[in-house]
Amino acid sequence: MKNPIILAVESSCDESAIAIYQNKKGALANEIFSQIEMHRQYGGVVPELAARDHLKRLPILLKQALTKANCNLKDIDAFAYTAGPGLLGALMTGANYARSLAYALNRPAYAIHHMEGHLLSPFLANFDPAPEFPFLALLVSGGHTQLLLVKNIGNYELLGTTLDDSVGEAFDKTAKIMGLPYPGGPELAKLAEKGNPERFVMPRPMTNRPGLNFSFSGLKTHVRLLLEKTLQNEKNPAQLKADIAASFQKTIVDTLIIKCERAWQNHNCRDLIVAGGVSANQALREALETRAKKQNKRVFFPPLALCGDNALMIAYAAAQRINKQNPAPLKLDIKARWNLEDIKL
Ligand code: KG4
Ligand code: ZN
Repeated sequence: MKNPIILAVESSCDESAIAIYQNKKGALANEIFSQIEMHRQYGGVVPELAARDHLKRLPILLKQALTKANCNLKDIDAFAYTAGPGLLGALMTGANYARSLAYALNRPAYAIHHMEGHLLSPFLANFDPAPEFPFLALLVSGGHTQLLLVKNIGNYELLGTTLDDSVGEAFDKTAKIMGLPYPGGPELAKLAEKGNPERFVMPRPMTNRPGLNFSFSGLKTHVRLLLEKTLQNEKNPAQLKADIAASFQKTIVDTLIIKCERAWQNHNCRDLIVAGGVSANQALREALETRAKKQNKRVFFPPLALCGDNALMIAYAAAQRINKQNPAPLKLDIKARWNLEDIKL
């Protein structure tokens, strides 16, 4: 297939999204509906509600996307959908939607790994020069925290992962303890801007041990105990919370940097890609950029608008696979858990 127009559906968690992409022209449409408002009242994502809402939103997003791209369904050459990892019911709605459209139009439909979408999303920024293989990838999202060696597209080696909470979860759970609304990551980051990151020293687990694994689950307990201990006697509780937020964020950023530097030392790569929802975090971006410059390395992030879940990254990943993965399988194969190393091209 030469320069196909690809329509992708993303529905792995609480964003319903449809994008249309063509290699030569880039993004033709990138429509996203966030369910945040709906889940906020429950303090987190309710899987059944997420699945039902995807079903409601996808037809609306499809119309919007086709209008934006100024094309109709018959112009679409191939479909793609997020097949995992994610919430099974949510994945099922998007996968069925894309697969059915493909079937009706007699087009192929590609099952895409959500984290490969995130991993390749910085390429949508058209960096010049682009990241060079092999490079390192730090994936930091709500469900994952992984360091990978990317030898090529579809050739991923897992170097390290979290043993418990992901970075996104650490942000969200700590934010909840601090009384911030869902999703807590961006709220906690906003609060951290007003705080003193040096006021509290928090544990940086796994940094003194060799290896590239992470552990973040202890941090939320540390913050809960710290709040209990300090809040009663604090004259300025708002400042205290901001200082805790800033100290927490610094702890996470420092921990990630220690591991990235270790990965740089152990592997002969110049470039590092950072992607996933938490890659929108400004403190992380600035700290990693400073570190990379000092060591003559390069770090790449997705555009801010593509850090969170979107279908454009899924379409892009499909575009990279489309001529190498023929024919696209007819069966619907969705997975709640799925190892990136298993999607070899
Ligand atoms: O990649 P993503 O949109 O969804 C998953 O694939 O999980 O990541 C969502 C996560 C959430 O935990 C959210 O709180 C976090 O990314 N996040 C942030 C920021 N923006 C989003 N965490 C810290 N700082 C941010 N600015
Ligand atoms: Zn994601």
